[in-house]
Amino acid sequence: MARVSMTVDGTNYVDEVEPRTLLVHHLRERLGKVGTLIGCDTSNCGACTVHLDGVSVKSCAVLAVQADGADITTVEGLAHDGELHPMQKAFHENHGLQCGFCTPGMIMQSIDLLGENPHPSEEQVRHGLEGNLCRCTGYQNIVKAVQAAAQAMKPGGDSLRSPSETGAVPTGDAPTSTSVDPIAQTAKVGE
Ligand code: FES
Ligand code: FES
Repeated sequence: MARVSMTVDGTNYVDEVEPRTLLVHHLRERLGKVGTLIGCDTSNCGACTVHLDGVSVKSCAVLAVQADGADITTVEGLAHDGELHPMQKAFHENHGLQCGFCTPGMIMQSIDLLGENPHPSEEQVRHGLEGNLCRCTGYQNIVKAVQAAAQAMKPGGDSLRSPSETGAVPTGDAPTSTSVDPIAQTAKVGE
């Protein structure tokens, strides 16, 4: 077993994991972050996309031990004080989902995309999302949603990151000391 410490959606977790444990399994099964989905487990579909130190990654392609010390944001960490992230709003308002299975990964990848390119063309959106598969929408409304989010946001990539990724979360909103989720508590180091 290996000891890992990571901040997920503003909370620090310490746990022991098998070296072969995938980050997506750790997030879902140990930390209860079931908003991050598994569509393929083979890094093809993008449903498991999260931000690792501010950059989108497919969490089925990362070992939990590789995320030791990382700051991770999942789709569950985007909304703050009851307010959806602009990208979440844009997907909602532009009907950018049907069954919703691809949506958490699409949203995380789209935020990363706009962080790199705040005003992408339709072609650039499609290119930026080519690693995320949707079996329902035909992608048309997903592209519309991303471009609507781009319009809604100020120029500059930083405003498109979640507050926790920009360091904008007041310390009162997120525990700064090790605070282990009840689901992970059974494996807390020292117990
Ligand atoms: Fe990770 Fe499909 S579950 S890419
Ligand atoms: Fe169903 Fe994308 S909305 S897979």
